[in-house]
Amino acid sequence: MICVSIELKNYRNIEEARVSFDEGVNVLIGDNAQGKTNLLEGIYTFAMGKSFRGVKEADVIRFGENEALLSLSFENSLRSDAQNLKMHLKKGVRRKIELNGLKIDKIGDMIGHFRAVLFCPEHLSLIKEGPSMRRNYLDVAISQFRPVYLRSLQRYSAILEQRNKLLKNAEEDRKTLDGTIELWSEQLAKEAALIASFRAKYVSLVGEAVEKYFSEMTGMRERVEMQYLGSSKQRYEEYSDTALTEKRYFELLTTNIDREIGAGSTLWGTHKDDIEILINGKSARVFGSQGQQRSLALAMKLAEGDICYEETGDRPVLLLDDVLSELDGTRRSFLLSKVKDRQVIITSCEHIDYGCAKIINVENGKYTE
Ligand SMILES: Nc1ncnc2c1ncn2[C@@H]1O[C@H](COP(=O)(O)OP(=O)(O)O)[C@@H](O)[C@H]1O
Ligand SMILES: [Mg+2]
Repeated sequence: MICVSIELKNYRNIEEARVSFDEGVNVLIGDNAQGKTNLLEGIYTFAMGKSFRGVKEADVIRFGENEALLSLSFENSLRSDAQNLKMHLKKGVRRKIELNGLKIDKIGDMIGHFRAVLFCPEHLSLIKEGPSMRRNYLDVAISQFRPVYLRSLQRYSAILEQRNKLLKNAEEDRKTLDGTIELWSEQLAKEAALIASFRAKYVSLVGEAVEKYFSEMTGMRERVEMQYLGSSKQRYEEYSDTALTEKRYFELLTTNIDREIGAGSTLWGTHKDDIEILINGKSARVFGSQGQQRSLALAMKLAEGDICYEETGDRPVLLLDDVLSELDGTRRSFLLSKVKDRQVIITSCEHIDYGCAKIINVENGKYTE
């Protein structure tokens, strides 16, 4: 996968820009607040479907403007010629997307064409943070090569919202649940089982890759294990049996309604999942050193790229936002040694020796080679 170029208009602090990239290493260099991350954010929008900074869609439109335009030219192994994705954002209007000039209605139909792995400083806390960050890691990674997974996630969150609303209303009047809650529980259980099967499989793949990277990085023979933890508390192998998981979730959701009404929300489901990460049988989150936690996080990001490659035959573009300066010398050279065979776009405040790289200077939303 190659990000050939991107054009942006009124996006963040970028009035108008067109930036081309080399097939190997590209480095965006500039002082703080000049527009380095903004550019990566623009590129990654086409992989993830939205900003990775968790802001409202209109917030990325340049201050004082009404609309923004993004256009990405990329190549993947499916087609020899370059493809194009366009996004048009306008305040108060639904966003418009085009793939090779054809309109795309659903964001789910865009994701999976251009694939990228983003690695930013927050990801270094992937191990020590709470479970939602790890669930997000899984969702972003799996969605890029399994469209059915993304669609299931979207249905799941819509069902969950409705079910939670019902449970909240039921606090005042329990009768409002009659005849409706079962249906919602049934649908939630069905989607949860599908999501869990994908996640459990993905975690076992990541675990293998992470163990390999971790021992290479640390030179130690520590045993790393990663386990998918579903809130239905089944054994890992059982999650491949979606009928079984669905049944289990349905039971949990129907026999604990009183507790759920008390809590005013759904207490079982894949929105409660986590990944357990163990070093020599002990929780890396609780007992790992900061260095071990960072090495594991780095390994998880490299694994994300590897699995995407194995599943699609195409190496995703690697976007490294300010991480090199956050890593010590050993981890930094380890990371750079592992990404030689793919396109990398790096942002940095300082000049580091990257070997033969394309250098792009960033100043006040302008990009010059
Ligand atoms: N919607 C927007 N319109 C105009 N400028 C914006 C908008 N959103 C963020 N900015 C500006 O972008 C700059 C930050 O850019 P960023 O790419 O994060 O910097 P860095 O080069 O440090 O990565 C800030 O000066 C901020 O005010
Ligand atoms: Mg930045």
